[in-house]
Amino acid sequence: KERQLILAIESSCDETSVAVIEDGTKILSNIVASQIKSHERFGGVVPEVASRHHVEQIIGCMEEAFQEAGVQVTDLGAVAVTYGPGLVGALLIGITAAKTFAWANDLPLIPVNHMAGHIYASRLSHEMTFPLMALLVSGGHTELVYMKEHGSYEVIGETRDDAAGEAYDKVGRVLGVTYPSGKIIDEMAHQGSDTYNFPRAMIKEDNFDFSFSGLKSAFINLVHNAEQRGEELIPNDLAASFQQSVIDVLVSKTIRACETYEVKQLIMAGGVAANQGLRREMKTQLAEKMPEVVFSVPELKLCGDNAAMIGAAAFVEANKGNVATLELNAKPSLIF
Ligand code: KG4
Ligand code: ZN
Repeated sequence: KERQLILAIESSCDETSVAVIEDGTKILSNIVASQIKSHERFGGVVPEVASRHHVEQIIGCMEEAFQEAGVQVTDLGAVAVTYGPGLVGALLIGITAAKTFAWANDLPLIPVNHMAGHIYASRLSHEMTFPLMALLVSGGHTELVYMKEHGSYEVIGETRDDAAGEAYDKVGRVLGVTYPSGKIIDEMAHQGSDTYNFPRAMIKEDNFDFSFSGLKSAFINLVHNAEQRGEELIPNDLAASFQQSVIDVLVSKTIRACETYEVKQLIMAGGVAANQGLRREMKTQLAEKMPEVVFSVPELKLCGDNAAMIGAAAFVEANKGNVATLELNAKPSLIF
């Protein structure tokens, strides 16, 4: 059987990325140009700055992706691109590049949902066994997705306010940690302990939804009140307390979802899935409560945004016959 090569493009937020993926499972190249340095001083991603960076980076990333993969345009079977969710201006750069390339080389254009991409990042290192549950935790999303087969997604629960990563980044500002704060708070947490006992929102509720804005407010109020009273707080303990609250809720609800839906595998994906504390605790508790369920998390470098995961998800879409026309538009609020 001939191998199927897909050129994948991702530009939904602050990474410009282009990859060449073989048969949806093997990375031939995965070029990621991060813009974090340009957004750091604003404490978040500035949409207009992001779009301009994508314009500057995209062609170079495409050239590098071909070079590193050692393939020619004529070897490709399709071009895939993220068309949402994300920043509209940022998405449009990737979409325009993908459309132009598809049209010029007479290749099918495969539209990919960014969140499906995060789930499929897992397939670049582990097999997928259905039915499965996916916990998606990123800067913009926190949701539990049930999959009974490839390319089929049912959102069974999600955050009612802030995403987990968003809570990390907002709390990070109060702690004086540079954006994005998740990784540094994770490191601080390992040197502190859970002494402040923040709330575990919705942990006992009989649903699969989450809420992180109460935790964020409790954290900010504690810090502000302490400042007013001139009290000293221990930053590492603050980080550990915040992180333990996030972990407790994510782990408890995710395992309950796995039990209810009797899944064979749990995939944890998205930027926050890089969290060492979360990875460890989810693994331990799942092994204790449901040892028959396989736990998979993408490799660390594939947890954040990248085009390899888009190519992996595109392989499934392509085989379903999901091909876009050149009318494809960005869908900033795309859902499953
Ligand atoms: O998936 P991603 O790269 O971009 C989105 O699609 O949102 O996720 C970025 C988010 C940021 O909020 C960042 O703070 C968080 O992932 N993050 C982490 C860690 N590494 C990145 N959160 C907690 N622990 C980490 N180690
Ligand atoms: Zn993402």
